[in-house]
Amino acid sequence: MPQIPEKIHELTVGQLSARSGAAVSALHFYEAKGLISSRRTAGNQRRYSRDALRRVAFVRAAQRVGIPLATIREALAQLPEERTPTNDDWAKLSAAWRTELDERITQLGRLRDHLTDCIGCGCLSLETCVLSNPDDVVGQRMAGSRLLPVRRPASDGTPGP
Ligand code: FES
Repeated sequence: MPQIPEKIHELTVGQLSARSGAAVSALHFYEAKGLISSRRTAGNQRRYSRDALRRVAFVRAAQRVGIPLATIREALAQLPEERTPTNDDWAKLSAAWRTELDERITQLGRLRDHLTDCIGCGCLSLETCVLSNPDDVVGQRMAGSRLLPVRRPASDGTPGP
């Protein structure tokens, strides 16, 4: 990975791409999604501040573990805009994601343990299937057969629907 001399405070999109390992098209996409920003030169070329390198590294790491772009953008919005983020700023951001990562690991563990059953099943049950209910939302809200409609006898005593 090419080093960028410390005296260079702004990077071209090519330098940012070479240093971060992200394709130029990916950097343009990140910018369009508000994850990184640049200023334009008089010749309408993008220039990125050096902290864009850390932002890109953060975005790529988060994407690798399946964090949605909207969540990544919310996290990056917590960084100070008036100054370059410090190591402490980045550490706080990473710590805040520990819970999110723990939840994803739990979900993936459930999926791993039940995937073979699902492949041979196809029921997509809201109550038991990790494919249709990966967060076990229904299980957390209620237990048993509460999803089934309640059958009440009609006023004339005949069984309900
Ligand atoms: S498809 Fe039946 S349990 Fe997942």
